Amino acid sequence: MRKFITVLVLPLALATVPPELFSPLVAQKVLATAKTPPSPIQFPQYTDATAGNWLLFNPDTWTTGFFPATLYEMNRRQKLCGAKHGVGDVDWLKLGRTWSTGEIPLETKTGVGHDVGFLSFPFVEELKINPGNGTAITAVKAFATALAKRFNAKVGCTRSWDSPDPNFQVIIDNMMNLEVLFVAEEITGNHTLRDIAIKHADTTIANHIRPDGGTWHVIEYDSNTGLVTKKRTAQGFSDDSTWSRGQAWGIYGYANMHLRTNFPRYLETARRLATYFVSNIPSDGIVPWDFNAPTIPAPRPADSSAATLAVNALLLLSQRELTVGNSTGAQFWRDHAFSILRDITNLAWRPEWKSLLSNGTVNLPANNKLTGIVYGDYYFIRAGNELKELGLTFC
Ligand SMILES: *[C@@H]1O[C@H](CO)[C@@H](O)[C@H](O)[C@H]1NC(C)=O
Ligand SMILES: *[C@@H]1O[C@H](CO)[C@@H](O)[C@H](O)[C@H]1NC(C)=O
Ligand SMILES: *[C@@H]1O[C@H](CO)[C@@H](O)[C@H](O)[C@H]1NC(C)=O
Ligand SMILES: *[C@@H]1O[C@H](CO)[C@@H](O)[C@H](O)[C@H]1NC(C)=O
Repeated sequence: MRKFITVLVLPLALATVPPELFSPLVAQKVLATAKTPPSPIQFPQYTDATAGNWLLFNPDTWTTGFFPATLYEMNRRQKLCGAKHGVGDVDWLKLGRTWSTGEIPLETKTGVGHDVGFLSFPFVEELKINPGNGTAITAVKAFATALAKRFNAKVGCTRSWDSPDPNFQVIIDNMMNLEVLFVAEEITGNHTLRDIAIKHADTTIANHIRPDGGTWHVIEYDSNTGLVTKKRTAQGFSDDSTWSRGQAWGIYGYANMHLRTNFPRYLETARRLATYFVSNIPSDGIVPWDFNAPTIPAPRPADSSAATLAVNALLLLSQRELTVGNSTGAQFWRDHAFSILRDITNLAWRPEWKSLLSNGTVNLPANNKLTGIVYGDYYFIRAGNELKELGLTFC
């Protein structure tokens, strides 16, 4: 009986994974970008919208960690897939470490504010491989301390963008930066870091989420009283709209808070945000850059990075459902992850570009759209690795 179920269920899941996920082009393109780091070091963030060539940015940019972290994902893929599709011919770990060194000066001084959590990604990956790596330990501790310094107990949040007091701005994206506090807590035993993460997450539940499960991008607080002074957007369509990438950061952030604490309220919040996300994808399956942006003139720009991020967020949420014995819920989120992945690959897979995907919206109000994006590609590759690790696909 058990054998029968395995045979029946696995091919159904397998059938829905787009073959591009493990195309040889993945390794080829990442390697082409990785093998000659520019000197002085600069990091890919997004591509131009016509030829798909990467634009490079100085290390002191919030997205710097994603390319080194992509190289760590390729190293993980090598272990998961063996020598398949060109991944086996490359020392990905060495490349990941080499590119990470460009971030080390940021331990002492960055201009990225709260985004230190994103910067920490490659160092967190290094610690999974070598927990004793002193460089990575120092980096994670420094980034966590920098984030903790931005915490205001009156507001109950870490500050996102800098602004003069009493203005205190918090963006939904910041749910992603809390993980570095937990990693640093593991290293140092300092539980204050965890308390800050929990307080930030709870304040965000209270103020950032609408009754329909959508989210505001920016909440402004008064740093003296802790009261909310404004709810607005920065990168979304309007103050009342839901910016899709922000929504996806929120799903991932709360699913991760549940992973870290097992508090039911975080699972419930992740479900609310995820329910909004999947219910607001239109019938064409394309994740728009903002769920409330007008559909005319068509096509309304997609955001492939919101889509691939959401795939990872839903897979994490699916795993969290399993920990509470909810296999129906787990299957539900997994099915949505599969369909988002399939639809975004159909739309955005671009063999002739340097990035894997096109149709990223970096910042629509700044007219930065129709590009490849480094974190969109990162989450695409990671989705493949997660699915393989979960036994839901072959390489
Ligand atoms: C330790 O980590 C850093 C940064 O991730 C890396 O550059 C370095 O090569 C690693 N050292 C060792 C001995 O693996
Ligand atoms: C724990 O971390 C907090 C936040 O960075 C810091 O203020 C505090 O001094 C740390 N405690 C110890 C014992 O190091
Ligand atoms: C996707 O990208 C292509 C090529 O840049 C563009 O022609 C198309 O309109 C985009 N579609 C959406 C929905 O953004
Ligand atoms: C299982 O998960 C689904 C989707 O998140 C949810 O709607 C449902 O309430 C959950 N069931 C239980 C028993 O927790």
